Amino acid sequence: MRVVEVIAYGGPEVLRMARRPEPEAGDVPGRVRVSMKAAGVNQADLRIRAGRYADAVGALKPPFILGTDFAGKLLDPVPGMAAGTRVAGFVPWYQELTGEGTYTEVLRVAPDWIAPMPDDLEFTVAASLPLAAATAQQGLGRIALPAGATLLVTGGSAVVGRLAIQYAHAAGMRVVAVAHEGDESELRVLGADHVVTRGAPEDVVAKVLAGDPDRVDAVFDGALVGDALLPVLKDGGVFLALAPDRVPTAERDIRVETIRATPDAVALRESLQKVADGELITRVADVLPLAEAAEAHRRAEAGHRPGRIILMI
Ligand SMILES: NC(=O)c1ccc[n+]([C@@H]2O[C@H](COP(=O)([O-])OP(=O)(O)OC[C@H]3O[C@@H](n4cnc5c(N)ncnc54)[C@H](OP(=O)(O)O)[C@@H]3O)[C@@H](O)[C@H]2O)c1
Repeated sequence: MRVVEVIAYGGPEVLRMARRPEPEAGDVPGRVRVSMKAAGVNQADLRIRAGRYADAVGALKPPFILGTDFAGKLLDPVPGMAAGTRVAGFVPWYQELTGEGTYTEVLRVAPDWIAPMPDDLEFTVAASLPLAAATAQQGLGRIALPAGATLLVTGGSAVVGRLAIQYAHAAGMRVVAVAHEGDESELRVLGADHVVTRGAPEDVVAKVLAGDPDRVDAVFDGALVGDALLPVLKDGGVFLALAPDRVPTAERDIRVETIRATPDAVALRESLQKVADGELITRVADVLPLAEAAEAHRRAEAGHRPGRIILMI
């Protein structure tokens, strides 16, 4: 089968097409195979490829296969799902550390990573959701704000941020979002009550405090700003960090939480249905063939593109 390997740590050029033997049914106990249709390109993929997370990946060395998000068709049955069922999910890449990610034609998955896709959902759209939805939902779970409390979401224009805005709004929170210029009206439709444009951290802090002089109850730091945002938080507030190297030092009884999302098939099934029903909005920026993974990484790294970049397989 065709895969894209990271052949050494480096720039997008280290992503190379290669051939590996196709997994066979039952060759790894407890795993089933998915014939891949779409894979998401996540920010973590870029950092792992560049060698920035070499410590976190431990003994795993190139060549390995990147990729967490997937959508495709089951090749093997699982309880409640026949072979051929369209499914989506994400590989908990850091927990597994097998280096067998989603940039491949056939992927081995655990049954509890996957949820069936509604009939009318496209593979590309489904593959944009799993990791981001789990991060937004589990992150909000860690924050545990009551309805009516005020949440600041940085990176509100990005994939995780957009979902965090929607889930927080649905849970009755008042949402302040930090967004790219021009995204204000869209993010209001998604559920943001107040939108400030992104900029230097001190400018963002000033804009948030201008609208909320009593400060906010919690921060969902989707843009990985870190310490510089603490002045927007009330004493005893909650700060959720999305990356281990962007965890602020707690002060004023602020509770600092971190998250590494884990698969939750039940929650994913609900979110996929909501996307199909138009109740939850996710965004695809670009769709490229698997063979153009290096170009996909170049585009993701260049930024300035809202939505998930998807590899079509
Ligand atoms: N802890 C976990 O389990 C976990 C899981 C998933 C993600 N994360 C982290 O959470 C962060 C956010 O992830 P993500 O998937 O939401 O990021 P993303 O959407 O893939 O990336 C954000 C990118 O989109 C661009 N962008 C967003 N909105 C835009 C707009 N309206 N116009 C132009 N460009 C726009 C940004 O460009 P600019 O560079 O120009 O701003 C940035 O490069 C990442 O750092 C990721 O690593 C953590």
